[in-house]
Amino acid sequence: MLHRLLLLLFSCSMACAGDVYQKNQSMGKAESIKAFDHGVEIKTAEGTLIATVFSPTIIKMHFTKKSRESDTLSYAKRHDLQPSKAFKANESSDAYRIETDSLILSISKNPVRIRFSTKSGILINEDESAFGTSWIGEEVTTYKKLISDEKFIGMGEKTGGLNRRGEGFTHWNTDYFGYPTNADPIYMSTPFYIGLHESQGAKVMYGIFMDNSYKSHFNFGASNDRFSSFTTEDGDMVYYFIYHTTVPGIIESYTSITGRITLPPLWSLGFQQCRYSYYPDKEVLRIAETFREKKIPADVIYLDIHYMDKYKIFTWNQDRFPDPKGMISTLKQKGFNTAVIIDPGIKVEKGYSAYEQGVEQNLFLKYPDATDYTGQVWPGWCHFPDFTNPDTRTWWGNSFKDLVDVGIRGFWNDMNEPATWGQRFPDLVEFSFEGLKGTHRRGHNVYGMQMARATFEGTKDLLKGERPFILTRAGFSGVQRYSAVWTGDNVSSDDHMMLGIRMLSSLGIAGVPYVGMDIGGFSGNPSKELFARWISIGAFAPLSRAHVCVDNKDQEPWSFGERVEDIARNYLNLRYMMLPYIYSSFHEASQSGMPIWRSLAIEYPFDSKIYDGRYQHQFTIGKGLMIAPVNSVQEFTKVYFPGSQPWYDFYSDSKYAPGTEDHVDAPLEKLPAFVQGGSIIPMQSIIQHTGEKSSDTLFVHVYAANSGITNQQIYHDDGLTYSYEKGAYSHMNIIYDAGKKNITFEAPKGNYKTHHSVIAILLHGFDEVPKGMNINGTSTKAEKRSVSFMKALSNFDPLGGPAREGFMNVQAIHIPYPKAKTSIQW
Ligand code: GLC
Repeated sequence: MLHRLLLLLFSCSMACAGDVYQKNQSMGKAESIKAFDHGVEIKTAEGTLIATVFSPTIIKMHFTKKSRESDTLSYAKRHDLQPSKAFKANESSDAYRIETDSLILSISKNPVRIRFSTKSGILINEDESAFGTSWIGEEVTTYKKLISDEKFIGMGEKTGGLNRRGEGFTHWNTDYFGYPTNADPIYMSTPFYIGLHESQGAKVMYGIFMDNSYKSHFNFGASNDRFSSFTTEDGDMVYYFIYHTTVPGIIESYTSITGRITLPPLWSLGFQQCRYSYYPDKEVLRIAETFREKKIPADVIYLDIHYMDKYKIFTWNQDRFPDPKGMISTLKQKGFNTAVIIDPGIKVEKGYSAYEQGVEQNLFLKYPDATDYTGQVWPGWCHFPDFTNPDTRTWWGNSFKDLVDVGIRGFWNDMNEPATWGQRFPDLVEFSFEGLKGTHRRGHNVYGMQMARATFEGTKDLLKGERPFILTRAGFSGVQRYSAVWTGDNVSSDDHMMLGIRMLSSLGIAGVPYVGMDIGGFSGNPSKELFARWISIGAFAPLSRAHVCVDNKDQEPWSFGERVEDIARNYLNLRYMMLPYIYSSFHEASQSGMPIWRSLAIEYPFDSKIYDGRYQHQFTIGKGLMIAPVNSVQEFTKVYFPGSQPWYDFYSDSKYAPGTEDHVDAPLEKLPAFVQGGSIIPMQSIIQHTGEKSSDTLFVHVYAANSGITNQQIYHDDGLTYSYEKGAYSHMNIIYDAGKKNITFEAPKGNYKTHHSVIAILLHGFDEVPKGMNINGTSTKAEKRSVSFMKALSNFDPLGGPAREGFMNVQAIHIPYPKAKTSIQW
């Protein structure tokens, strides 16, 4: 009897407990619909949806759970992003429709579910009909119907393959020394992806950016074949839906929301040498001098944590660096800029001014009882600046004054996940959020980005018109506005090098173009062969930096013997020769968000071959230079040649037909590289650092196309200041029309005068000598010249010496650097 009574009581308590056991709760029937200038607000018993149009290609979907206030603070989006009124809306008995010039959003009323289609009615993306947007407690997920052939790319700094289908990912910035090649999450979060599928015979693509910084989870059909989904553990479900017919168009729209890079200083595009740590000052100078003695070009040298007094930020270790200003100015004379590491942890130590000021002015993250949070990092117990507090950002920015005054121009933000020993930053720690208040749960993923922001804004102000260089480890969508990013503490292994390649490609798709990885691997010691391969590949990375952990063997270009030193010198020479092309690609990134290092998925998203495990590492620099990376134990590889133009071996000009796969030789000296027909690649003579002037000739390599019209922008400015914002740049468009057989240099725009006075046009793969050629109507002749990009060739002549056997023979035409439109016709 007692037993039965207890059972009854127990079942009653279960029933009465009601929603103690949280169930999935989806958006139900629309109860009210209210149109407004930029979209529509729809309320159901579960929550509110506000759909806002931002452009013909961008609609924001914002779901707030009933009983919550709508959350509008976003660090990811640009401050000046404005909604648009350019759309038509109409309502029927079962749906509300918003139609822009590019797409149709249809919101069914019962239940509220989302469908995006093209203007001709082709499905782009729709909710999983049973679940749509749903809550489990405070956690909210949007479920999208998975299409059988759907592929997913993007997500930024994530391990895994180029196609994310079948995988799941978490965004929670994590300090992960020597992360395994399948680790997730690691340092940075960019909750943005692109979906690709064929619907009703049409190739369709879209982008989704979930703008919420709580811990989030993305599922691309992992452990299910029904939906793709994105979940955030708290806050509102805010996502921007982007539709475009090309991946570059999607990236352009995405970066119109989250912003683009501003031009970094040109010197930061030179080679960067780092170590944990170079000290004392004599050692730093020795490294710099060795680059010059060995004629290996380089521009930047780093000081890691040992330059400080007891790892205290904004201090110097006086024994190791008694005269920082003197050392930095000597380095400057040698053509080196100095970058220093800056971690967020401020040592708790009476009398240490950063600590005293932070406590006094209330600038640190706090527990709910208003005491400063204390956690351990390099200096021991530390407080952490609250970078979501505008006062903290201003104070932080001003704190760089002394570093700027001694001549530092590079600021390397590390440990900003934020990292603490033990990795358990307590969730109750409070963040200001511009005075709106929040906890670590929401602040964690944006901490690194806000630190980079404060560093960028502060040093930019202090430098009074000069560009600072900022590098960060952690970040969130939008970090590209402030900083370059590197992929953290990688490992000296072939697998890690290949993973790094995929991550740089994926970061580019996620709107972060200024990226690099530690060349040689941070943890562990690479073999000679691995270092040689890594530096050959790293020479093409937007951020080209070698770095290595304390106690590991040296990782300078000369540390692995003469053969590797020669390889490193050759590839770094190539990088410096290509700086006009690389810098022009940076300019493009600043205008459209297009990455410099591009996954083939950007240009060929529907070519299934590029996702093949054998080819997924191939990437291009700018539009037309394709690298086919090879690991350190292989001496040949198979390459896929996408598109519809021929490809030319970069070192020999031998031709490969588009759509084919071929084995190519890859001795250690030769990283397979190919140029697509139609490409125009501007280069300069070899320099030892960017402060040195190249010769007066700009070498413009043009590769024969089958047909069609291609173009390339060449952008120059002083590389150092913001005077380009006032017109001090030179921006020239070059157009090559294979059908009409002409190359046109349009009149350069802007009022910056480049030091180049001559252009040597070097024609690759042009079977017939352009006969009867004329420049603006005056007939002229091409000369035969020989080019070699491979140091292994004797009499190496990178840019066009006299015609010789065994070299790439090209036709060369010299013209004065155009001031007005100049056409070459043959
Ligand atoms: C972290 C960084 C690494 C740096 C080290 C010491 O591990 O990722 O690059 O060298 O800290 O500052």
